[in-house]
Amino acid sequence: MDFTIAVLAGDGIGPEVVAQGKRVLDRIGAQRGHRFTYAEGMIGGCAIDAHGTALLDATTNACLGADAVLLGAVGGPKWDDPKAKTRPEDGLLKIRKELQLFANLRPISIFPQLIDSTPLKPEILRGVDMLVIRELTGGLYFGKPKKRWTTTRGRRGVDTLSYSEKEVERVVRLGFEMARARRKKLTSVDKANVLESSRMWREIAIEIGKDYPDVALSHMLVDTCAMNLIRTPASFDVIVTENTFGDILTDEASVLAGSMGMLPSASLGGRNLAKKWSGGKIFGLYEPIHGSAPDIAGQDKANPLATILSVALLLRYSLGLRAEAQAVEAAVRRVLEQGHRTGDIARPGERTLGTRAMGDAVLAALGG
Ligand code: IPM
Ligand code: MG
Repeated sequence: MDFTIAVLAGDGIGPEVVAQGKRVLDRIGAQRGHRFTYAEGMIGGCAIDAHGTALLDATTNACLGADAVLLGAVGGPKWDDPKAKTRPEDGLLKIRKELQLFANLRPISIFPQLIDSTPLKPEILRGVDMLVIRELTGGLYFGKPKKRWTTTRGRRGVDTLSYSEKEVERVVRLGFEMARARRKKLTSVDKANVLESSRMWREIAIEIGKDYPDVALSHMLVDTCAMNLIRTPASFDVIVTENTFGDILTDEASVLAGSMGMLPSASLGGRNLAKKWSGGKIFGLYEPIHGSAPDIAGQDKANPLATILSVALLLRYSLGLRAEAQAVEAAVRRVLEQGHRTGDIARPGERTLGTRAMGDAVLAALGG
């Protein structure tokens, strides 16, 4: 089959890790008779430099015309001025919003080979296999008012955490459906002891839960969840939560996996996503959860595995190519078993591979 993939490599290490993701796609295509055509576009700081805006409408449209989007990372010190009118991150938020990708799936599982690369005790990590579903187009990131101004008594800034019933319903419902296909435990994470939006979120979760008597729903305050993620991480199955909470909790959860460089993500949307996700062929955007890592950009040091694992999710959810997705995930497992490590997952004194060499190792594991 022929597929078009929109590729937005972005800034920093984005282009380096995305290059390895494309090599993996090409190898899979050659092996299994698929052809991937790439529609390259700019997002983030590079787009600000070239066009004065972090995301052109033409780029959004190119993404809409593709089967899926593969994204690297955005941002860097060059564009970090707090007074700047436009920031690289605006491009990322805009594309998520315009493509209506309201559900960000961040699976966190532990490769046994990396247990020693984490600061946590091995017995705490055993059995960790969770899926965090982060609401991605609402909440504190997008609520209005959102602004800064100067009053007679000094400066003021405001962000707003706002949700409609529909926005909560669709993502929580997806949480239930995904939990149903896994270990049937859904943890809805909120701050209902303080926030009105959270009290509404919890109420809606309870109501939807009536449709899923086979799924054990529990509610957890976000601060408690932050604690339990490192205290009892194996107790979680599916977590569903607000945009900002999900952002923060998944950086924390990445420590369980050894490195941010290991964690992929899939952002999905569309009507009836809760019913359709398991069928494959849902339009989505795939990106590693890590950032642009300007400190190591251009040095062939970044770990491409989060991007390569994101490619696996792309194959599974947007192209309906499950066997191909599994082949990529198995290849990643194999390179770790073989002892290949980039700097972020290496133990002190261990030999490390560069970004491209890690890509080579994955291709070798995939076979000719
Ligand atoms: C992420 C990142 C982004 C976010 C930034 C770069 C805007 O941290 O994808 O988790 O906050 O969503
Ligand atoms: Mg983040």
